Amino acid sequence: MKALITAGGHGTRLRPITHTQNKHLIPIANKPILNYALEYIREAGITDVGIITNKEGSEVKDVYKDGSQMGLHITYIPQERPSGLADCVRIAQPFLGNESFVFYLGDNIIVGGIARFIDEFRKSGANCHLVLARVKDPERFGVPELKDGRIIGIEEKPRKPKSDFAVTGIYIYDPNIFEAVNAISPSARGELEISDAHQYLLEKGFKVTYSEITGWWKDTGKPADLLEANRLVLDSFETRIEGKVDTQSNLTGRVVIEPGAEIHNSNVRGPAIIGAGSKIVNAYIGPYTSIDKNCRIENSEIEFSIVSCGCLIRNQKIRIESSLLGKDVQIVDANSKPFTNRFIVGDQSQIEIR
Ligand code: G1P
Repeated sequence: MKALITAGGHGTRLRPITHTQNKHLIPIANKPILNYALEYIREAGITDVGIITNKEGSEVKDVYKDGSQMGLHITYIPQERPSGLADCVRIAQPFLGNESFVFYLGDNIIVGGIARFIDEFRKSGANCHLVLARVKDPERFGVPELKDGRIIGIEEKPRKPKSDFAVTGIYIYDPNIFEAVNAISPSARGELEISDAHQYLLEKGFKVTYSEITGWWKDTGKPADLLEANRLVLDSFETRIEGKVDTQSNLTGRVVIEPGAEIHNSNVRGPAIIGAGSKIVNAYIGPYTSIDKNCRIENSEIEFSIVSCGCLIRNQKIRIESSLLGKDVQIVDANSKPFTNRFIVGDQSQIEIR
């Protein structure tokens, strides 16, 4: 079995972070979002992976190369224009060949991996197996209509949803999906919708089954959603202390200190992760915080935040929270007169000061 993962898009709603970085490479608990999809796929015993990228596509390729660092063999499939998810499947047909495969939207994070869904697909003898999650806002997703435990219809972003389930971004197909993606027409937004391909399969009498999950997260493009994904992932962590923690420091709850990280005279209250090479000095790191590699947090307090690698936070009098910092950001005190606030920030940055 092969896998196909999407990793394109422009992440316009996550600017300024996505000015310099593909959204699939934003760190969640110190790993790029896309890592989760790749790890779940490898755990399920699949090593042959196609990644759909933007036309230019090089950024994701620069990070994952041929996939061998992760024990995978990766083929990159550039999509000329963003023409929908069914188009991703259509253009990947030469790579996928005549076998069953997993289709995984690279910005979806779930707890617990995907191996169980592949088992259920095999056991049920289905042509298409979908993974559903109960949500508060089904109108933002593909929504199934269910009757007697069976899917009888699927609509994309319906105004009046027929259930409170979303079709998540994990799909398992046999090769009949190619007939569907080649038969459907573009929707009102000009895309080949994956939900229309599913509806086609249902109408033609193919067997569409499903599993239900909890612990699913889908990026809706706002920083608050990334903080929520970070919370979900950190919540599944166990304590692991591989760096140095001095006797003046206190670690509470589930905390990961990566090798080469140092904690001096500080309180770290988990769930939290401190990345390799980072130094936490006279500081408080609160729950649901991820500090990536080579950061320095000194005389400051931070919680419920994502800090990308290379950041410096020093002498902050007010606790920082619900914040998302890109790479190499500096938040420091003014150390020369006049004592003013001074900003050098990129386009579309957002700063809230008390
Ligand atoms: C896409 C699919 C939708 C699915 C969702 C899951 O939506 O079209 O059916 O529920 O992914 O992540 P989009 O991300 O294009 O809004």
